[in-house]
Amino acid sequence: MSLEKTLSIIKPDAVKRDLTGKIIAMFEEKGLRVVAQKKIWLSKEQAGSFYDIHRDRPFFGELCEFMSSGPIVAQVLQGDNAIELNREIMGATNPEQAEAGTIRKEFALSMTENSAHGSDSPETAKQEIRFFFSGLEVDFAAVFFSSAILNFPKFERTNKIR
Ligand code: CMP
Repeated sequence: MSLEKTLSIIKPDAVKRDLTGKIIAMFEEKGLRVVAQKKIWLSKEQAGSFYDIHRDRPFFGELCEFMSSGPIVAQVLQGDNAIELNREIMGATNPEQAEAGTIRKEFALSMTENSAHGSDSPETAKQEIRFFFSGLEVDFAAVFFSSAILNFPKFERTNKIR
């Protein structure tokens, strides 16, 4: 078992339907902890930049339209084998093929509007986390041990590593 971080996105279809809390609970129940999180509204260009690897696929345009159609929740999940575990909890990309009890089986509307995204490898996780978060936002240990924090013990108390 190795402690990993992975990038998770709760997509616009799920945020619009107020499913954010239910989806986060599904991650937490399986042992994934949210260590960084933000709600943002991507432009079509930003969505295209995030999904650059799919630029030549026929679904790219529709995917960028959808991902910029409303706010998303981008988050870093941490836990043992977080990358694989996140993908298991999400289920197959196509909700018709997803197993019962997975996020996509329970909530996805279609292949495109499939409620959640998760990094598919350690390399992708690193790139995707950096797309949305600064090192300071993700690396709690760096914050904890920085001289700024040592000079502000009150801040240190409220930002303990769990
Ligand atoms: P995601 O895991 O975010 O990665 C790429 C996304 O493209 C995928 O989820 C789907 O939302 C979307 N998509 C739409 N059509 C397809 C397809 N035929 N194959 C893979 N992904 C698709």
